[in-house]
Amino acid sequence: MTSRVRKAVVPAAGLGTRFLPASKAIPKEMIPVVDKPAIQYVVDEALAAGLDHVCLITNPGKEAMERHFAPAPDLEAALERKGDQARLDAVRETSSKGEIAFVNQGDPKGLGHAVGRAEEWVDGEPFAVLLGDDFLDADDYILDAMCRIQERTGGSVILLLEVPPHMIQMYGSVDPTSVAAVDLPGEGEVPDGLEIHRISRLNEKPAPGEEYSNLAVIGRYVFNPAVLDVLKTTPPGRGGEIQLTDAISTLASMPAEDGGGVYGVVFRGHRYDTGDKLEYLKAVVQLAAKRTDLGPDFTTWLQGFVSTRDNA
Ligand code: G1P
Repeated sequence: MTSRVRKAVVPAAGLGTRFLPASKAIPKEMIPVVDKPAIQYVVDEALAAGLDHVCLITNPGKEAMERHFAPAPDLEAALERKGDQARLDAVRETSSKGEIAFVNQGDPKGLGHAVGRAEEWVDGEPFAVLLGDDFLDADDYILDAMCRIQERTGGSVILLLEVPPHMIQMYGSVDPTSVAAVDLPGEGEVPDGLEIHRISRLNEKPAPGEEYSNLAVIGRYVFNPAVLDVLKTTPPGRGGEIQLTDAISTLASMPAEDGGGVYGVVFRGHRYDTGDKLEYLKAVVQLAAKRTDLGPDFTTWLQGFVSTRDNA
Protein backbone atom coordinates (compact mmCIF):
# COMPACT_ATOMS: atom_id res chain seq x y z
CA MET A 1 0.00 0.00 0.00
CA THR A 2 1.18 3.49 -0.80
CA SER A 3 0.49 6.53 1.36
CA ARG A 4 -2.92 8.15 1.70
CA VAL A 5 -3.69 10.80 -0.94
CA ARG A 6 -4.25 14.17 0.76
CA LYS A 7 -3.17 16.75 -1.81
CA ALA A 8 -4.98 18.21 -4.82
CA VAL A 9 -3.66 20.45 -7.58
CA VAL A 10 -6.09 22.65 -9.52
CA PRO A 11 -4.71 24.26 -12.69
CA ALA A 12 -6.41 27.66 -12.93
CA ALA A 13 -4.07 29.80 -14.99
CA GLY A 14 -5.86 29.67 -18.35
CA LEU A 15 -6.99 32.81 -20.15
CA GLY A 16 -10.60 31.69 -20.24
CA THR A 17 -11.01 32.88 -23.82
CA ARG A 18 -14.13 30.76 -24.33
CA PHE A 19 -15.88 32.97 -21.78
CA LEU A 20 -14.92 36.40 -23.05
CA PRO A 21 -15.98 39.12 -22.43
CA ALA A 22 -17.08 37.88 -18.96
CA SER A 23 -13.55 36.67 -18.24
CA LYS A 24 -11.81 39.86 -19.33
CA ALA A 25 -11.50 41.48 -15.90
CA ILE A 26 -12.33 38.55 -13.61
CA PRO A 27 -10.85 35.05 -13.80
CA LYS A 28 -13.21 32.62 -15.52
CA GLU A 29 -12.91 30.44 -12.42
CA MET A 30 -14.70 33.19 -10.47
CA ILE A 31 -17.78 33.17 -12.70
CA PRO A 32 -20.66 31.96 -10.52
CA VAL A 33 -22.58 28.73 -10.94
CA VAL A 34 -25.81 29.78 -9.16
CA ASP A 35 -24.19 31.71 -6.28
CA LYS A 36 -20.72 30.22 -5.81
CA PRO A 37 -17.73 30.77 -8.08
CA ALA A 38 -16.90 27.72 -10.18
CA ILE A 39 -13.52 27.31 -8.43
CA GLN A 40 -15.23 26.89 -5.06
CA TYR A 41 -17.08 23.79 -6.25
CA VAL A 42 -13.79 22.23 -7.35
CA VAL A 43 -12.13 22.96 -4.01
CA ASP A 44 -15.22 21.58 -2.22
CA GLU A 45 -15.00 18.40 -4.30
CA ALA A 46 -11.37 17.91 -3.29
CA LEU A 47 -12.24 18.48 0.36
CA ALA A 48 -15.18 16.06 0.12
CA ALA A 49 -12.66 13.37 -0.90
CA GLY A 50 -10.56 14.18 2.17
CA LEU A 51 -7.94 16.16 0.23
CA ASP A 52 -7.51 19.15 2.51
CA HIS A 53 -4.29 20.47 0.98
CA VAL A 54 -5.15 22.24 -2.27
CA CYS A 55 -2.76 24.08 -4.59
CA LEU A 56 -4.18 26.41 -7.24
CA ILE A 57 -1.89 27.05 -10.21
CA THR A 58 -2.67 30.62 -11.21
CA ASN A 59 -1.11 33.59 -12.92
CA PRO A 60 -0.90 37.33 -12.23
CA GLY A 61 -4.27 38.97 -12.79
CA LYS A 62 -6.10 36.16 -11.00
CA GLU A 63 -5.72 37.57 -7.48
CA ALA A 64 -9.51 37.55 -7.05
CA MET A 65 -9.22 33.79 -6.51
CA GLU A 66 -6.74 34.31 -3.68
CA ARG A 67 -9.01 36.95 -2.13
CA HIS A 68 -11.97 34.59 -2.40
CA PHE A 69 -10.29 31.99 -0.19
CA ALA A 70 -8.80 34.53 2.28
CA PRO A 71 -10.56 35.97 5.34
CA ALA A 72 -12.39 39.28 4.67
CA PRO A 73 -12.35 41.05 8.09
CA ASP A 74 -14.17 44.26 6.99
CA LEU A 75 -16.96 42.38 5.23
CA GLU A 76 -17.29 39.93 8.11
CA ALA A 77 -17.47 42.81 10.64
CA ALA A 78 -20.16 44.54 8.56
CA LEU A 79 -22.26 41.35 8.34
CA GLU A 80 -21.79 40.77 12.08
CA ARG A 81 -23.06 44.29 12.83
CA LYS A 82 -26.14 43.59 10.71
CA GLY A 83 -26.68 40.27 12.48
CA ASP A 84 -26.69 38.51 9.09
CA GLN A 85 -25.49 35.13 10.30
CA ALA A 86 -26.33 33.16 7.15
CA ARG A 87 -24.25 35.37 4.86
CA LEU A 88 -21.50 35.61 7.47
CA ASP A 89 -21.30 31.81 7.54
CA ALA A 90 -21.19 31.70 3.73
CA VAL A 91 -18.32 34.21 3.65
CA ARG A 92 -16.40 32.50 6.46
CA GLU A 93 -16.86 29.08 4.87
CA THR A 94 -14.69 30.11 1.93
CA SER A 95 -11.68 30.90 4.13
CA SER A 96 -11.90 27.79 6.30
CA LYS A 97 -11.43 25.38 3.42
CA GLY A 98 -8.40 23.33 4.35
CA GLU A 99 -5.02 24.66 3.44
CA ILE A 100 -4.99 26.49 0.10
CA ALA A 101 -1.72 27.39 -1.62
CA PHE A 102 -1.15 29.38 -4.81
CA VAL A 103 1.66 28.80 -7.30
CA ASN A 104 2.23 30.89 -10.42
CA GLN A 105 2.41 29.03 -13.69
CA GLY A 106 4.53 31.70 -15.40
CA ASP A 107 4.71 30.97 -19.13
CA PRO A 108 1.55 29.09 -20.11
CA LYS A 109 3.05 26.04 -21.85
CA GLY A 110 0.12 23.64 -21.46
CA LEU A 111 -1.65 21.52 -18.86
CA GLY A 112 1.39 19.28 -18.29
CA HIS A 113 3.51 22.34 -17.59
CA ALA A 114 0.90 23.71 -15.15
CA VAL A 115 0.84 20.44 -13.18
CA GLY A 116 4.66 20.28 -13.20
CA ARG A 117 4.76 23.67 -11.48
CA ALA A 118 3.31 22.04 -8.34
CA GLU A 119 6.33 19.75 -7.90
CA GLU A 120 7.80 21.48 -4.86
CA TRP A 121 4.39 21.75 -3.19
CA VAL A 122 3.55 18.09 -3.91
CA ASP A 123 6.83 17.07 -2.26
CA GLY A 124 6.90 13.46 -3.40
CA GLU A 125 3.36 12.48 -2.30
CA PRO A 126 0.61 11.00 -4.49
CA PHE A 127 -1.77 13.80 -5.51
CA ALA A 128 -5.00 14.49 -7.37
CA VAL A 129 -5.51 16.95 -10.22
CA LEU A 130 -8.93 18.51 -10.79
CA LEU A 131 -9.74 20.58 -13.88
CA GLY A 132 -12.25 23.32 -13.16
CA ASP A 133 -13.97 23.17 -16.56
CA ASP A 134 -15.09 19.60 -15.86
CA PHE A 135 -17.92 20.21 -13.47
CA LEU A 136 -19.34 17.12 -11.74
CA ASP A 137 -22.64 16.93 -9.92
CA ALA A 138 -21.97 16.60 -6.18
CA ASP A 139 -24.19 13.49 -6.05
CA ASP A 140 -21.81 11.81 -8.49
CA TYR A 141 -18.45 12.61 -6.89
CA ILE A 142 -15.96 9.81 -7.54
CA LEU A 143 -12.60 11.24 -6.50
CA ASP A 144 -12.58 9.34 -3.23
CA ALA A 145 -12.96 6.00 -5.08
CA MET A 146 -10.15 7.03 -7.46
CA CYS A 147 -7.90 7.75 -4.46
CA ARG A 148 -8.65 4.27 -3.07
CA ILE A 149 -7.54 2.70 -6.38
CA GLN A 150 -4.36 4.81 -6.40
CA GLU A 151 -3.59 3.81 -2.81
CA ARG A 152 -4.16 0.14 -3.57
CA THR A 153 -2.26 -0.10 -6.86
CA GLY A 154 0.36 2.61 -6.33
CA GLY A 155 -0.16 3.64 -9.96
CA SER A 156 -2.12 6.55 -11.41
CA VAL A 157 -5.88 6.77 -11.94
CA ILE A 158 -7.82 8.80 -14.48
CA LEU A 159 -11.53 9.45 -14.95
CA LEU A 160 -13.11 8.39 -18.24
CA LEU A 161 -16.31 9.34 -20.02
CA GLU A 162 -17.87 7.48 -22.92
CA VAL A 163 -18.43 10.09 -25.64
CA PRO A 164 -20.00 9.87 -29.11
CA PRO A 165 -17.26 8.94 -31.61
CA HIS A 166 -17.28 12.35 -33.33
CA MET A 167 -16.52 14.07 -30.01
CA ILE A 168 -13.40 12.14 -29.00
CA GLN A 169 -11.29 14.66 -30.94
CA MET A 170 -11.93 17.18 -28.16
CA TYR A 171 -10.38 14.95 -25.50
CA GLY A 172 -7.58 12.60 -24.61
CA SER A 173 -8.45 9.08 -25.82
CA VAL A 174 -7.37 5.88 -24.03
CA ASP A 175 -6.57 2.30 -25.01
CA PRO A 176 -8.50 0.33 -22.34
CA THR A 177 -8.65 -3.27 -21.12
CA SER A 178 -11.38 -4.01 -18.62
CA VAL A 179 -10.21 -5.23 -15.21
CA ALA A 180 -12.28 -6.39 -12.23
CA ALA A 181 -11.67 -4.58 -8.94
CA VAL A 182 -10.69 -7.88 -7.27
CA ASP A 183 -7.96 -8.39 -9.87
CA LEU A 184 -6.27 -5.03 -9.25
CA PRO A 185 -2.76 -5.36 -7.85
CA GLY A 186 -2.13 -4.47 -4.24
CA GLU A 187 -4.31 -4.59 -1.18
CA GLY A 188 -7.03 -2.38 0.17
CA GLU A 189 -10.73 -1.77 -0.26
CA VAL A 190 -12.04 -0.44 -3.55
CA PRO A 191 -15.74 0.55 -3.69
CA ASP A 192 -18.08 -1.90 -5.48
CA GLY A 193 -19.69 -1.30 -8.83
CA LEU A 194 -16.91 0.61 -10.59
CA GLU A 195 -16.05 0.02 -14.26
CA ILE A 196 -12.26 -0.09 -14.21
CA HIS A 197 -9.83 -0.39 -17.11
CA ARG A 198 -6.11 -0.86 -17.29
CA ILE A 199 -4.81 1.75 -19.74
CA SER A 200 -1.95 0.86 -22.09
CA ARG A 201 -1.61 4.17 -24.00
CA LEU A 202 -3.33 7.50 -24.63
CA ASN A 203 -3.38 10.16 -27.31
CA GLU A 204 -4.40 13.79 -26.93
CA LYS A 205 -7.16 15.15 -29.16
CA PRO A 206 -6.74 12.41 -31.79
CA ALA A 207 -7.35 13.15 -35.46
CA PRO A 208 -10.29 11.17 -36.90
CA GLY A 209 -9.34 7.49 -37.10
CA GLU A 210 -6.44 7.86 -34.66
CA GLU A 211 -8.47 7.49 -31.46
CA TYR A 212 -7.81 4.38 -29.35
CA SER A 213 -11.44 4.21 -28.17
CA ASN A 214 -14.33 6.57 -27.49
CA LEU A 215 -13.47 6.62 -23.80
CA ALA A 216 -12.36 10.20 -23.14
CA VAL A 217 -10.21 11.45 -20.30
CA ILE A 218 -12.11 13.96 -18.19
CA GLY A 219 -10.54 16.27 -15.68
CA ARG A 220 -10.01 14.13 -12.58
CA TYR A 221 -6.68 12.41 -12.09
CA VAL A 222 -4.87 10.82 -9.11
CA PHE A 223 -1.16 10.48 -9.70
CA ASN A 224 1.82 8.61 -8.46
CA PRO A 225 4.34 11.46 -8.01
CA ALA A 226 6.50 9.83 -10.74
CA VAL A 227 4.39 11.84 -13.19
CA LEU A 228 6.35 14.95 -12.20
CA ASP A 229 9.65 13.43 -13.36
CA VAL A 230 7.99 12.19 -16.53
CA LEU A 231 6.66 15.68 -17.26
CA LYS A 232 10.19 17.08 -17.17
CA THR A 233 11.15 15.01 -20.17
CA THR A 234 7.82 15.15 -22.00
CA PRO A 235 8.32 17.09 -25.23
CA PRO A 236 5.67 19.54 -26.48
CA GLY A 237 2.84 17.61 -28.12
CA ARG A 238 -0.55 18.57 -29.56
CA GLY A 239 -0.74 22.35 -30.11
CA GLY A 240 2.95 22.74 -29.20
CA GLU A 241 1.99 22.37 -25.52
CA ILE A 242 3.33 20.02 -22.84
CA GLN A 243 0.41 17.62 -22.62
CA LEU A 244 -0.51 15.85 -19.39
CA THR A 245 -2.00 13.09 -21.57
CA ASP A 246 1.42 12.37 -23.12
CA ALA A 247 2.99 12.03 -19.67
CA ILE A 248 0.20 9.64 -18.62
CA SER A 249 0.87 7.56 -21.72
CA THR A 250 4.52 7.27 -20.64
CA LEU A 251 3.42 6.27 -17.12
CA ALA A 252 1.22 3.56 -18.65
CA SER A 253 4.28 1.88 -20.15
CA MET A 254 6.43 2.12 -17.01
CA PRO A 255 6.82 -0.70 -14.45
CA ALA A 256 4.95 -0.42 -11.17
CA GLU A 257 8.21 -0.27 -9.19
CA ASP A 258 9.06 2.99 -10.97
CA GLY A 259 5.63 4.49 -10.24
CA GLY A 260 4.09 3.33 -13.52
CA GLY A 261 0.71 1.75 -14.25
CA VAL A 262 -2.44 3.65 -15.20
CA TYR A 263 -6.06 2.75 -14.43
CA GLY A 264 -9.21 4.41 -15.70
CA VAL A 265 -12.60 4.58 -14.01
CA VAL A 266 -15.67 5.17 -16.17
CA PHE A 267 -17.88 8.01 -14.98
CA ARG A 268 -21.64 7.46 -15.35
CA GLY A 269 -22.92 10.57 -13.58
CA HIS A 270 -23.69 14.15 -14.64
CA ARG A 271 -20.74 16.10 -15.98
CA TYR A 272 -20.72 19.51 -17.62
CA ASP A 273 -17.97 21.30 -19.51
CA THR A 274 -18.47 24.69 -17.89
CA GLY A 275 -15.95 26.24 -20.28
CA ASP A 276 -18.67 25.83 -22.92
CA LYS A 277 -21.53 28.34 -22.74
CA LEU A 278 -24.36 25.88 -23.42
CA GLU A 279 -23.01 23.32 -20.95
CA TYR A 280 -22.45 26.09 -18.41
CA LEU A 281 -26.13 27.06 -18.69
CA LYS A 282 -27.17 23.43 -18.22
CA ALA A 283 -25.03 23.19 -15.07
CA VAL A 284 -26.59 26.37 -13.63
CA VAL A 285 -30.14 25.15 -14.36
CA GLN A 286 -29.55 21.67 -12.95
CA LEU A 287 -27.91 22.97 -9.79
CA ALA A 288 -30.55 25.64 -9.24
CA ALA A 289 -33.34 23.06 -9.72
CA LYS A 290 -31.78 20.83 -7.04
CA ARG A 291 -31.39 23.57 -4.44
CA THR A 292 -33.88 23.36 -1.59
CA ASP A 293 -34.07 27.16 -1.28
CA LEU A 294 -34.43 27.96 -5.01
CA GLY A 295 -35.45 24.70 -6.69
CA PRO A 296 -39.24 24.59 -6.13
CA ASP A 297 -39.91 28.17 -7.30
CA PHE A 298 -37.33 27.97 -10.05
CA THR A 299 -38.66 24.73 -11.56
CA THR A 300 -42.26 26.00 -11.44
CA TRP A 301 -41.15 29.09 -13.35
CA LEU A 302 -39.03 27.02 -15.74
CA GLN A 303 -41.90 24.67 -16.59
CA GLY A 304 -44.13 27.67 -17.33
CA PHE A 305 -41.41 29.32 -19.39
CA VAL A 306 -40.75 26.21 -21.48
CA SER A 307 -44.45 25.48 -22.11
CA THR A 308 -45.12 29.10 -23.18
CA ARG A 309 -42.20 28.92 -25.60
CA ASP A 310 -43.42 25.55 -26.95
CA ASN A 311 -46.79 27.10 -27.70
CA ALA A 312 -45.32 30.23 -29.27
C1 G1P B 1 -7.80 18.73 -21.21
C2 G1P B 1 -6.92 17.52 -21.42
C3 G1P B 1 -7.68 16.44 -22.19
C4 G1P B 1 -8.97 16.10 -21.46
C5 G1P B 1 -9.80 17.38 -21.24
C6 G1P B 1 -11.01 17.06 -20.35
O1 G1P B 1 -8.06 19.34 -22.45
O2 G1P B 1 -5.76 17.92 -22.14
O3 G1P B 1 -6.89 15.29 -22.30
O4 G1P B 1 -9.69 15.16 -22.22
O5 G1P B 1 -9.03 18.38 -20.56
O6 G1P B 1 -11.84 18.16 -20.21
P1 G1P B 1 -8.66 20.82 -22.60
O7 G1P B 1 -10.15 20.69 -22.53
O8 G1P B 1 -8.11 21.64 -21.48
O9 G1P B 1 -8.20 21.31 -23.94
